[in-house]
Amino acid sequence: MTPLQTLSGALEVDTDCGRDLKAFARDVHSGLFSNPKRLSCRYFYDAEGSLLFERICRLPEYYPTEAEKMALEEHSSEIADLYPAPPTVVELGSGSSYKTRVLLDSILSRHGSARYVPIDISPSILRQTAQDLTARYSGLRVTPLIGEYEEGLGRLEKEPGTGRLFLWLGSSIGNLDRDEASRFLLRLRAGLTPSDRLLVGIDLRKDPDVIAAAYNDSLGVTSRFNLNILSRINRELRGDFDTNTFRHQAIYEEAEGRVRMYLVSMREQSVPIVDLGVEIPFRAGEAIHTEDSYKYSPAEIHALAANADLVLSRHWLDSGGRFSLNLFSRR
Ligand code: AVJ
Repeated sequence: MTPLQTLSGALEVDTDCGRDLKAFARDVHSGLFSNPKRLSCRYFYDAEGSLLFERICRLPEYYPTEAEKMALEEHSSEIADLYPAPPTVVELGSGSSYKTRVLLDSILSRHGSARYVPIDISPSILRQTAQDLTARYSGLRVTPLIGEYEEGLGRLEKEPGTGRLFLWLGSSIGNLDRDEASRFLLRLRAGLTPSDRLLVGIDLRKDPDVIAAAYNDSLGVTSRFNLNILSRINRELRGDFDTNTFRHQAIYEEAEGRVRMYLVSMREQSVPIVDLGVEIPFRAGEAIHTEDSYKYSPAEIHALAANADLVLSRHWLDSGGRFSLNLFSRR
């Protein structure tokens, strides 16, 4: 991963440094020689994948984005009112900050100013977002951080503040299994002062058909998003995946409350990856596991809070009851 970099204005940042590529190469190598094969969903988000994800968020079947935005619209002024002074808003995995604007609107109209620290691994999207937001909000100081959550949080711990609002939206927590999720919240808790709040968007368990459709859209954008990880291996590691010989598969496992995504080889084949100096053998029908997306019941969210030693001070749903916003604080 790139050393954490601060992005200012239109500054060009070279993030394609050797460390990134080495970690990618190592993870691809170990994942594709594992049994069963796997690739980490963190590698979906190169420039192409980030654009495809933005398109997923606008799909009619992909309800989480709109549902979360509606919940934010309903509750953002209440959130803004929790702070006696202009807050610093720190967002993990900010992407285009599309939904965050709802919250920034409320915060700026209540407080007149604020600081916004978006943290994201995609420099292209972060650069665009920083420019858009600075142009749109005169009272907002935007100081983006490029990097993984861990790096961003580590950096922030060196300049502790109070009255901050940490945002982790979009149900990104769903990529972690339930134990990992509690452990990550426990880790976030360590950086919270008593006046800080943590707002986490979490997708809810619901009608299995609705969930399955969100990951199997009729335009095939989710399929392209999933397959892009193979194209990325082709581009960055000189792989020779023929994406026409793999198909997207997303299955909602209701008992587990999770969507599992795979790329399935439609025939027996052997795929060279030149920069790794390897050939990867596939059986017909063999799958690469690429992503999990966990869904929660309200009871599971309460358990999550308890396991992370956090107080769940607010638990809001959108009007359709599809998605939850959860406000946590230290006890
Ligand atoms: C960004 C992890 C929340 O799990 O719904 C969307 C990613 N994958 N469609 C999700 C995703 C396929 C998304 N998260």
